[in-house]
Amino acid sequence: MPGAHENGRVEQPWILSSAAEAALAMARAATDRDPLRLGAALQRALGLDASQRAAVLTQLSLEDRATTRWHAPATDMRLTREGLEQATRPVLAEWRARQLADAGVRQAADLGCGLGLESRALARAGLRVRAVELDPDTAAFARHNSAGLDVTIHVGDLTDPAVLAWALDGADAAFLDPARRDPTGPRTIDGRTGHRVLDPESWSPPWSWVRTLADRLPRTVVKVAPGIDHALVPSDASATWAAVDGDLVEASVWFRGFAGLPARRALALTHDGSLDLLTSDASVDETVTGVRDHLIDVAPVVTRSGLVTTLAARLDATRIDPHIGYLTRDGAPVPTPFHTTYRVLDVLPFDRRRVGSALAGLGCGALTVMKRGFAADTEALRRQWLRGCHGDRAMVVALTRIGDVPTAVVCEP
Ligand SMILES: C[S@@+](CC[C@H](N)C(=O)[O-])C[C@H]1O[C@@H](n2cnc3c(N)ncnc32)[C@H](O)[C@@H]1O
Repeated sequence: MPGAHENGRVEQPWILSSAAEAALAMARAATDRDPLRLGAALQRALGLDASQRAAVLTQLSLEDRATTRWHAPATDMRLTREGLEQATRPVLAEWRARQLADAGVRQAADLGCGLGLESRALARAGLRVRAVELDPDTAAFARHNSAGLDVTIHVGDLTDPAVLAWALDGADAAFLDPARRDPTGPRTIDGRTGHRVLDPESWSPPWSWVRTLADRLPRTVVKVAPGIDHALVPSDASATWAAVDGDLVEASVWFRGFAGLPARRALALTHDGSLDLLTSDASVDETVTGVRDHLIDVAPVVTRSGLVTTLAARLDATRIDPHIGYLTRDGAPVPTPFHTTYRVLDVLPFDRRRVGSALAGLGCGALTVMKRGFAADTEALRRQWLRGCHGDRAMVVALTRIGDVPTAVVCEP
Protein backbone atom coordinates (compact mmCIF):
# COMPACT_ATOMS: atom_id res chain seq x y z
CA MET A 1 0.00 0.00 0.00
CA PRO A 2 2.58 2.61 -1.13
CA GLY A 3 1.97 6.13 0.14
CA ALA A 4 -1.05 4.81 1.99
CA HIS A 5 -0.44 7.05 4.97
CA GLU A 6 -0.71 10.11 2.80
CA ASN A 7 -4.22 9.29 1.66
CA GLY A 8 -7.52 10.55 2.89
CA ARG A 9 -7.44 14.34 2.90
CA VAL A 10 -5.80 17.30 1.27
CA GLU A 11 -6.88 19.91 3.75
CA GLN A 12 -6.15 19.49 7.43
CA PRO A 13 -8.08 21.13 10.28
CA TRP A 14 -6.90 24.74 10.80
CA ILE A 15 -6.15 24.06 14.48
CA LEU A 16 -3.23 21.85 13.36
CA SER A 17 -1.59 24.70 11.40
CA SER A 18 1.38 26.83 12.49
CA ALA A 19 -0.93 29.89 12.57
CA ALA A 20 -3.03 28.06 15.16
CA GLU A 21 0.11 27.26 17.13
CA ALA A 22 0.84 30.98 17.46
CA ALA A 23 -2.76 31.71 18.43
CA LEU A 24 -2.72 28.94 21.03
CA ALA A 25 0.54 30.22 22.51
CA MET A 26 -1.04 33.67 22.89
CA ALA A 27 -4.24 32.22 24.39
CA ARG A 28 -2.36 30.05 26.89
CA ALA A 29 -0.33 33.04 28.07
CA ALA A 30 -3.42 35.25 28.55
CA THR A 31 -4.22 36.13 32.14
CA ASP A 32 -7.85 36.88 31.25
CA ARG A 33 -9.44 33.69 29.90
CA ASP A 34 -12.95 35.07 29.57
CA PRO A 35 -14.02 33.60 26.18
CA LEU A 36 -15.48 36.85 24.81
CA ARG A 37 -12.55 39.04 25.81
CA LEU A 38 -9.97 36.41 24.78
CA GLY A 39 -11.74 35.93 21.44
CA ALA A 40 -11.71 39.70 20.84
CA ALA A 41 -7.99 39.87 21.75
CA LEU A 42 -7.21 37.06 19.27
CA GLN A 43 -9.16 38.87 16.56
CA ARG A 44 -7.37 42.16 17.23
CA ALA A 45 -3.86 40.72 17.49
CA LEU A 46 -3.95 37.97 14.88
CA GLY A 47 -7.02 38.71 12.73
CA LEU A 48 -8.62 35.32 13.47
CA ASP A 49 -12.11 34.79 12.07
CA ALA A 50 -15.00 33.45 14.18
CA SER A 51 -14.40 29.76 13.42
CA GLN A 52 -10.67 30.08 14.14
CA ARG A 53 -11.36 31.86 17.44
CA ALA A 54 -13.83 29.11 18.40
CA ALA A 55 -11.27 26.43 17.50
CA VAL A 56 -8.63 28.05 19.73
CA LEU A 57 -11.03 28.42 22.66
CA THR A 58 -12.21 24.81 22.28
CA GLN A 59 -8.62 23.55 22.14
CA LEU A 60 -7.75 25.55 25.24
CA SER A 61 -10.64 24.04 27.19
CA LEU A 62 -9.79 20.50 25.98
CA GLU A 63 -6.17 21.07 27.04
CA ASP A 64 -7.36 22.11 30.49
CA ARG A 65 -9.60 19.04 30.72
CA ALA A 66 -6.76 16.73 29.65
CA THR A 67 -4.31 18.37 32.06
CA THR A 68 -6.73 17.85 34.95
CA ARG A 69 -7.45 14.25 33.96
CA TRP A 70 -3.86 13.28 33.19
CA HIS A 71 -2.09 15.48 35.78
CA ALA A 72 0.29 16.40 32.97
CA PRO A 73 0.37 19.28 30.52
CA ALA A 74 -1.25 18.44 27.17
CA THR A 75 0.04 21.48 25.28
CA ASP A 76 2.14 19.36 22.90
CA MET A 77 -1.01 17.59 21.69
CA ARG A 78 -4.04 18.56 19.67
CA LEU A 79 -7.28 17.14 20.97
CA THR A 80 -10.86 16.63 19.88
CA ARG A 81 -13.75 16.21 22.30
CA GLU A 82 -14.60 12.66 21.14
CA GLY A 83 -10.92 11.72 20.92
CA LEU A 84 -10.18 12.89 24.46
CA GLU A 85 -13.13 10.94 25.88
CA GLN A 86 -11.78 7.74 24.38
CA ALA A 87 -8.06 8.37 24.74
CA THR A 88 -5.92 6.17 26.96
CA ARG A 89 -4.29 8.02 29.84
CA PRO A 90 -0.62 8.59 28.93
CA VAL A 91 0.70 6.86 32.07
CA LEU A 92 -1.28 3.72 31.18
CA ALA A 93 -0.32 3.80 27.49
CA GLU A 94 3.32 4.10 28.60
CA TRP A 95 2.99 1.09 30.94
CA ARG A 96 1.46 -1.01 28.15
CA ALA A 97 4.12 0.08 25.66
CA ARG A 98 6.87 -0.91 28.11
CA GLN A 99 5.23 -4.33 28.55
CA LEU A 100 5.27 -4.85 24.78
CA ALA A 101 8.86 -3.64 24.46
CA ASP A 102 9.91 -5.94 27.33
CA ALA A 103 8.17 -8.85 25.55
CA GLY A 104 10.50 -8.23 22.61
CA VAL A 105 7.98 -6.56 20.29
CA ARG A 106 9.73 -4.43 17.67
CA GLN A 107 6.84 -3.33 15.46
CA ALA A 108 3.21 -2.91 16.43
CA ALA A 109 -0.04 -2.15 14.63
CA ASP A 110 -2.31 0.36 16.43
CA LEU A 111 -5.72 -0.46 14.97
CA GLY A 112 -8.20 2.37 15.49
CA CYS A 113 -5.61 4.80 16.82
CA GLY A 114 -7.90 7.75 17.66
CA LEU A 115 -5.76 10.73 18.73
CA GLY A 116 -2.72 8.47 18.77
CA LEU A 117 -1.96 8.24 22.51
CA GLU A 118 -1.00 4.57 22.25
CA SER A 119 0.97 4.98 19.01
CA ARG A 120 2.95 7.76 20.62
CA ALA A 121 3.71 5.70 23.73
CA LEU A 122 4.67 2.66 21.64
CA ALA A 123 7.03 4.71 19.49
CA ARG A 124 8.58 6.34 22.55
CA ALA A 125 9.21 2.85 23.94
CA GLY A 126 11.27 2.18 20.81
CA LEU A 127 8.73 0.38 18.61
CA ARG A 128 7.96 1.07 14.97
CA VAL A 129 4.21 1.70 14.60
CA ARG A 130 1.73 1.39 11.77
CA ALA A 131 -1.60 2.88 12.78
CA VAL A 132 -5.03 2.89 11.14
CA GLU A 133 -7.85 5.36 11.79
CA LEU A 134 -11.20 5.54 10.02
CA ASP A 135 -11.89 9.21 10.59
CA PRO A 136 -9.64 11.49 8.49
CA ASP A 137 -9.78 14.44 10.91
CA THR A 138 -8.94 12.26 13.91
CA ALA A 139 -6.08 10.72 11.91
CA ALA A 140 -4.75 14.22 11.16
CA PHE A 141 -4.71 14.95 14.90
CA ALA A 142 -2.95 11.63 15.56
CA ARG A 143 -0.36 12.52 12.92
CA HIS A 144 0.25 15.84 14.64
CA ASN A 145 0.52 14.12 18.02
CA SER A 146 3.09 11.62 16.79
CA ALA A 147 5.18 14.03 14.72
CA GLY A 148 8.88 13.15 14.81
CA LEU A 149 8.20 9.58 15.99
CA ASP A 150 8.35 6.34 14.02
CA VAL A 151 4.58 6.23 13.46
CA THR A 152 2.89 5.87 10.06
CA ILE A 153 -0.83 6.52 10.00
CA HIS A 154 -3.23 5.28 7.36
CA VAL A 155 -6.76 6.62 6.98
CA GLY A 156 -9.01 3.66 6.30
CA ASP A 157 -11.15 0.84 7.61
CA LEU A 158 -9.05 -1.64 9.59
CA THR A 159 -11.47 -4.45 8.72
CA ASP A 160 -10.65 -3.96 5.02
CA PRO A 161 -8.29 -6.91 4.28
CA ALA A 162 -5.87 -4.75 2.26
CA VAL A 163 -5.64 -2.13 5.02
CA LEU A 164 -5.16 -4.80 7.68
CA ALA A 165 -2.49 -6.54 5.59
CA TRP A 166 -0.59 -3.23 5.35
CA ALA A 167 -0.89 -2.60 9.10
CA LEU A 168 0.22 -6.11 10.06
CA ASP A 169 3.07 -6.30 7.55
CA GLY A 170 6.19 -6.69 9.69
CA ALA A 171 4.22 -6.33 12.95
CA ASP A 172 4.89 -8.74 15.77
CA ALA A 173 2.01 -7.42 17.89
CA ALA A 174 -1.27 -5.59 17.43
CA PHE A 175 -3.07 -3.20 19.76
CA LEU A 176 -6.77 -2.49 19.36
CA ASP A 177 -9.02 -0.08 21.18
CA PRO A 178 -12.47 -0.71 19.72
CA ALA A 179 -14.83 2.29 19.67
CA ARG A 180 -17.42 1.68 22.36
CA ARG A 181 -19.54 4.79 22.01
CA ASP A 182 -22.30 5.42 19.54
CA PRO A 183 -21.34 8.76 17.93
CA THR A 184 -24.93 9.21 16.71
CA GLY A 185 -26.29 8.94 20.26
CA PRO A 186 -27.36 12.00 22.26
CA ARG A 187 -24.76 14.17 23.97
CA THR A 188 -24.71 14.67 27.70
CA ILE A 189 -24.76 18.14 29.19
CA ASP A 190 -20.95 18.35 29.26
CA GLY A 191 -20.76 17.47 25.60
CA ARG A 192 -19.83 13.78 25.99
CA THR A 193 -20.99 11.72 23.08
CA GLY A 194 -23.89 9.32 23.29
CA HIS A 195 -24.43 6.18 25.21
CA ARG A 196 -21.79 3.56 25.75
CA VAL A 197 -22.28 0.53 23.57
CA LEU A 198 -22.36 -2.41 25.94
CA ASP A 199 -22.83 -5.28 23.48
CA PRO A 200 -19.29 -6.32 22.37
CA GLU A 201 -20.68 -7.31 18.98
CA SER A 202 -21.69 -3.65 18.48
CA TRP A 203 -18.19 -2.31 19.15
CA SER A 204 -16.19 -1.16 16.15
CA PRO A 205 -14.62 -3.56 15.31
CA PRO A 206 -16.84 -6.20 16.99
CA TRP A 207 -15.46 -8.71 19.51
CA SER A 208 -15.81 -11.67 17.10
CA TRP A 209 -13.59 -9.80 14.61
CA VAL A 210 -11.05 -9.16 17.38
CA ARG A 211 -10.97 -12.92 18.14
CA THR A 212 -10.24 -13.66 14.48
CA LEU A 213 -7.39 -11.15 14.49
CA ALA A 214 -5.93 -12.75 17.65
CA ASP A 215 -6.02 -16.16 15.93
CA ARG A 216 -4.00 -14.63 13.11
CA LEU A 217 -1.62 -12.62 15.34
CA PRO A 218 -1.60 -14.18 18.83
CA ARG A 219 0.33 -11.25 20.29
CA THR A 220 -2.78 -9.05 20.23
CA VAL A 221 -3.79 -6.73 23.09
CA VAL A 222 -7.27 -5.23 23.24
CA LYS A 223 -8.43 -2.41 25.48
CA VAL A 224 -11.98 -2.99 26.74
CA ALA A 225 -14.38 -1.52 29.28
CA PRO A 226 -13.56 -2.45 32.90
CA GLY A 227 -17.04 -3.96 33.24
CA ILE A 228 -16.21 -6.62 30.63
CA ASP A 229 -17.90 -9.96 31.23
CA HIS A 230 -15.13 -12.35 32.41
CA ALA A 231 -16.70 -15.03 30.20
CA LEU A 232 -15.59 -13.08 27.11
CA VAL A 233 -11.92 -13.58 27.98
CA PRO A 234 -10.66 -16.79 26.33
CA SER A 235 -9.24 -19.35 28.77
CA ASP A 236 -5.75 -19.08 27.26
CA ALA A 237 -5.71 -15.25 27.43
CA SER A 238 -4.82 -12.90 30.27
CA ALA A 239 -6.85 -9.89 31.45
CA THR A 240 -5.63 -6.79 33.27
CA TRP A 241 -7.84 -4.30 35.07
CA ALA A 242 -6.21 -0.91 35.54
CA ALA A 243 -6.77 1.99 37.93
CA VAL A 244 -5.07 5.36 37.70
CA ASP A 245 -5.01 7.42 40.90
CA GLY A 246 -7.69 5.10 42.31
CA ASP A 247 -10.10 5.39 39.35
CA LEU A 248 -10.84 2.11 37.60
CA VAL A 249 -10.38 3.16 33.97
CA GLU A 250 -10.08 0.13 31.71
CA ALA A 251 -9.40 -3.55 31.26
CA SER A 252 -7.19 -5.08 28.58
CA VAL A 253 -7.14 -8.59 27.17
CA TRP A 254 -3.73 -10.01 26.26
CA PHE A 255 -4.17 -12.92 23.88
CA ARG A 256 -2.28 -16.21 24.00
CA GLY A 257 0.87 -14.90 22.27
CA PHE A 258 1.89 -13.31 25.58
CA ALA A 259 2.66 -16.63 27.18
CA GLY A 260 3.41 -16.71 30.89
CA LEU A 261 1.09 -13.90 31.94
CA PRO A 262 -1.21 -14.72 34.87
CA ALA A 263 -4.88 -15.21 34.01
CA ARG A 264 -5.82 -11.96 35.79
CA ARG A 265 -3.95 -8.88 36.98
CA ALA A 266 -5.01 -5.75 38.86
CA LEU A 267 -2.79 -2.76 38.08
CA ALA A 268 -2.72 0.40 40.19
CA LEU A 269 -0.88 3.32 38.64
CA THR A 270 -0.51 6.88 39.78
CA HIS A 271 -0.15 9.81 37.42
CA ASP A 272 3.49 10.18 38.45
CA GLY A 273 4.20 6.62 37.33
CA SER A 274 4.32 4.60 40.55
CA LEU A 275 2.91 1.14 40.07
CA ASP A 276 1.59 -1.84 42.02
CA LEU A 277 0.32 -5.12 40.66
CA LEU A 278 -1.81 -7.97 42.07
CA THR A 279 -1.76 -11.19 40.08
CA SER A 280 -3.90 -14.29 40.07
CA ASP A 281 -0.89 -16.60 40.40
CA ALA A 282 -0.14 -15.32 43.92
CA SER A 283 -1.52 -17.16 46.96
CA VAL A 284 -5.11 -16.58 48.05
CA ASP A 285 -6.78 -16.56 51.46
CA GLU A 286 -10.43 -17.62 51.56
CA THR A 287 -10.59 -17.66 55.38
CA VAL A 288 -13.72 -16.06 56.87
CA THR A 289 -13.61 -14.59 60.41
CA GLY A 290 -15.54 -12.11 62.51
CA VAL A 291 -14.72 -8.42 62.16
CA ARG A 292 -11.27 -7.78 63.66
CA ASP A 293 -9.41 -4.53 64.56
CA HIS A 294 -9.61 -3.09 61.07
CA LEU A 295 -12.12 -3.15 58.23
CA ILE A 296 -10.62 -3.12 54.74
CA ASP A 297 -12.59 -1.64 51.87
CA VAL A 298 -11.26 -3.19 48.67
CA ALA A 299 -10.77 -0.96 45.59
CA PRO A 300 -12.96 -1.54 42.49
CA VAL A 301 -9.89 -2.64 40.47
CA VAL A 302 -9.57 -5.60 42.86
CA THR A 303 -13.25 -6.57 42.97
CA ARG A 304 -13.61 -6.29 39.16
CA SER A 305 -10.54 -8.45 38.58
CA GLY A 306 -11.79 -11.03 41.09
CA LEU A 307 -8.60 -10.77 43.16
CA VAL A 308 -10.13 -10.07 46.60
CA THR A 309 -8.72 -13.24 48.14
CA THR A 310 -5.31 -12.54 46.60
CA LEU A 311 -5.30 -9.17 48.33
CA ALA A 312 -6.41 -10.88 51.56
CA ALA A 313 -3.37 -13.16 51.41
CA ARG A 314 -1.03 -10.22 50.76
CA LEU A 315 -2.41 -8.25 53.71
CA ASP A 316 -2.71 -11.25 56.01
CA ALA A 317 -6.39 -10.36 56.16
CA THR A 318 -9.56 -12.48 56.21
CA ARG A 319 -13.01 -12.08 54.68
CA ILE A 320 -15.98 -11.11 56.84
CA ASP A 321 -18.27 -13.16 54.56
CA PRO A 322 -17.49 -15.40 51.55
CA HIS A 323 -19.59 -13.18 49.25
CA ILE A 324 -18.79 -9.68 50.52
CA GLY A 325 -15.83 -7.57 49.38
CA TYR A 326 -14.88 -6.26 52.84
CA LEU A 327 -11.80 -7.78 54.45
CA THR A 328 -10.63 -7.52 58.03
CA ARG A 329 -7.30 -7.72 59.84
CA ASP A 330 -5.46 -6.91 63.06
CA GLY A 331 -2.27 -4.96 63.51
CA ALA A 332 -0.90 -1.75 62.03
CA PRO A 333 -2.37 -0.74 58.66
CA VAL A 334 -0.33 -1.76 55.61
CA PRO A 335 -0.91 0.80 52.85
CA THR A 336 -1.48 -0.38 49.27
CA PRO A 337 -3.30 1.34 46.40
CA PHE A 338 -5.73 -1.60 46.43
CA HIS A 339 -7.58 -0.83 49.63
CA THR A 340 -8.53 1.64 52.37
CA THR A 341 -8.22 0.71 56.04
CA TYR A 342 -10.67 1.78 58.77
CA ARG A 343 -10.25 1.23 62.52
CA VAL A 344 -13.26 -0.64 63.91
CA LEU A 345 -15.02 0.99 66.87
CA ASP A 346 -18.19 -1.12 67.08
CA VAL A 347 -20.01 -3.90 65.23
CA LEU A 348 -23.77 -4.23 65.64
CA PRO A 349 -26.75 -5.79 63.90
CA PHE A 350 -28.31 -3.10 61.70
CA ASP A 351 -30.94 -1.09 63.52
CA ARG A 352 -31.30 2.63 62.72
CA ARG A 353 -31.78 3.75 66.32
CA ARG A 354 -29.01 1.58 67.74
CA VAL A 355 -26.52 2.72 65.12
CA GLY A 356 -27.57 6.37 65.72
CA SER A 357 -27.03 6.08 69.49
CA ALA A 358 -23.69 4.29 68.99
CA LEU A 359 -22.47 7.13 66.76
CA ALA A 360 -23.67 9.82 69.18
CA GLY A 361 -22.07 7.98 72.13
CA LEU A 362 -18.75 7.73 70.30
CA GLY A 363 -18.67 11.50 69.64
CA CYS A 364 -19.33 11.43 65.89
CA GLY A 365 -19.28 14.84 64.16
CA ALA A 366 -18.69 13.98 60.49
CA LEU A 367 -19.94 10.82 58.83
CA THR A 368 -19.54 8.74 55.68
CA VAL A 369 -21.87 5.80 55.10
CA MET A 370 -20.80 3.08 52.66
CA LYS A 371 -22.33 -0.26 51.79
CA ARG A 372 -21.61 -3.66 50.24
CA GLY A 373 -24.29 -6.29 49.73
CA PHE A 374 -26.79 -4.05 51.54
CA ALA A 375 -29.69 -2.13 49.96
CA ALA A 376 -30.06 1.31 51.58
CA ASP A 377 -30.17 5.01 50.81
CA THR A 378 -26.80 5.77 52.42
CA GLU A 379 -27.15 9.55 52.06
CA ALA A 380 -30.54 9.59 53.81
CA LEU A 381 -29.15 7.47 56.65
CA ARG A 382 -26.08 9.67 56.95
CA ARG A 383 -28.21 12.80 57.31
CA GLN A 384 -30.57 11.12 59.80
CA TRP A 385 -27.73 9.85 62.00
CA LEU A 386 -25.79 13.12 61.90
CA ARG A 387 -28.82 15.04 63.24
CA GLY A 388 -28.38 13.21 66.56
CA CYS A 389 -24.58 13.67 66.71
CA HIS A 390 -22.85 16.62 68.36
CA GLY A 391 -19.25 15.43 68.65
CA ASP A 392 -16.18 16.17 66.52
CA ARG A 393 -14.91 12.74 65.41
CA ALA A 394 -14.96 11.75 61.74
CA MET A 395 -16.53 8.31 61.39
CA VAL A 396 -17.50 5.79 58.76
CA VAL A 397 -20.36 3.32 58.92
CA ALA A 398 -20.03 0.27 56.65
CA LEU A 399 -23.39 -1.38 56.05
CA THR A 400 -23.13 -4.98 54.99
CA ARG A 401 -24.40 -8.47 55.46
CA ILE A 402 -22.56 -11.14 57.41
CA GLY A 403 -24.23 -14.45 56.63
CA ASP A 404 -27.90 -13.47 56.78
CA VAL A 405 -27.42 -10.71 59.34
CA PRO A 406 -27.59 -7.09 58.14
CA THR A 407 -24.71 -5.50 60.01
CA ALA A 408 -23.31 -2.03 60.70
CA VAL A 409 -19.58 -1.70 61.29
CA VAL A 410 -18.79 1.64 62.91
CA CYS A 411 -15.24 2.76 62.14
CA GLU A 412 -12.97 5.76 61.96
CA PRO A 413 -10.70 6.52 59.03
C1 LIG B 1 -11.47 4.20 21.42
S1 LIG B 1 -10.85 5.09 20.09
C2 LIG B 1 -9.12 4.88 20.18
C3 LIG B 1 -8.45 5.76 21.18
C4 LIG B 1 -6.95 5.60 21.17
N1 LIG B 1 -6.52 4.32 21.65
C5 LIG B 1 -6.30 6.68 22.01
O1 LIG B 1 -5.79 6.38 23.11
O2 LIG B 1 -6.30 7.84 21.60
C6 LIG B 1 -11.31 4.08 18.76
C7 LIG B 1 -10.98 4.65 17.41
O3 LIG B 1 -11.15 3.62 16.45
C8 LIG B 1 -11.63 4.19 15.27
N2 LIG B 1 -12.30 3.11 14.51
C9 LIG B 1 -13.46 2.50 14.82
N3 LIG B 1 -13.76 1.57 13.87
C10 LIG B 1 -12.73 1.60 12.97
C11 LIG B 1 -12.47 0.90 11.78
N4 LIG B 1 -13.29 -0.05 11.34
N5 LIG B 1 -11.34 1.20 11.12
C12 LIG B 1 -10.47 2.13 11.58
N6 LIG B 1 -10.68 2.85 12.69
C13 LIG B 1 -11.80 2.59 13.39
C14 LIG B 1 -12.57 5.29 15.74
O4 LIG B 1 -12.72 6.29 14.73
C15 LIG B 1 -11.86 5.80 16.99
O5 LIG B 1 -11.06 6.91 16.70
